[in-house]
Amino acid sequence: MQTVLVTGANRGLGLEFVRQYREAGWLVIATSRRLDEGVRARDCGAELLQLDVRDEEAIRALAHSLEGRKIDLLINNAGYHPGAQQLGKLDYENWQSAFHINVIAPLQLAEALLSIIPPDGKIVNIGSRQGSMACNREGGKYLYRATKAAVHSITRSLAIDLVERGIVVAALHPGWVKTDMGTNNADIEVEESVSGMRKVIADLGPHNTGHLINYDGEVIPW
Ligand SMILES: NC(=O)c1ccc[n+]([C@@H]2O[C@H](COP(=O)([O-])OP(=O)(O)OC[C@H]3O[C@@H](n4cnc5c(N)ncnc54)[C@H](OP(=O)(O)O)[C@@H]3O)[C@@H](O)[C@H]2O)c1
Repeated sequence: MQTVLVTGANRGLGLEFVRQYREAGWLVIATSRRLDEGVRARDCGAELLQLDVRDEEAIRALAHSLEGRKIDLLINNAGYHPGAQQLGKLDYENWQSAFHINVIAPLQLAEALLSIIPPDGKIVNIGSRQGSMACNREGGKYLYRATKAAVHSITRSLAIDLVERGIVVAALHPGWVKTDMGTNNADIEVEESVSGMRKVIADLGPHNTGHLINYDGEVIPW
């Protein structure tokens, strides 16, 4: 049986990944920073583990608790959107926390779990079109764009470094999705986004490792 570990799995896209992979018969390890918030993931049949992704020691403890098992797919989904961040009204207080959640944590998790990701395993970082410099025509959103551009950069390096081990790595853009973060004004529902991303993930291999890919399969320029 294939195993997937999803961070930030208590709501939004993370919870929908849990629901769909369980439905597809996968063994799902769902992490949530509060166990009482993760009830819906557990109700879907996931194994629920507590993880605040900013807690490096907790990441090490999680990896230790999973020793002897295998993770075929790691989805670094937990993310933070610090709001509009308009020029002239920038708040630098939360830059460190945003970088920790969106950039440092995905890399720490990949490093910590690497020894239990098998040669045909996959690491997926949930990135964003907003982190693509080529697609940025509107400006603004300084902090969010910077964190997602950084996690895209990490994705590329990881993909190159892990080629010889046969592990593929990609950053996925989920679309603009109706979640707490995406708001109700967004374009698509979580079901459409996640079923699209699952198809993209199933198709990941040496031919497309190290790219930023939209939920519909289109490769997005950096
Ligand atoms: N929705 C969109 O349109 C869209 C577009 C592009 C990219 N994305 C990306 O997609 C991913 C999921 O977003 P979403 O739309 O599902 O957002 P969401 O509904 O706001 O959910 C965010 C998830 O991240 C978790 N999280 C935040 N900080 C955490 C921390 N320190 N430790 C552990 N978990 C933490 C939240 O947990 P709590 O409940 O504990 O806060 C929650 O489970 C994010 O990486 C986001 O940047 C979303």
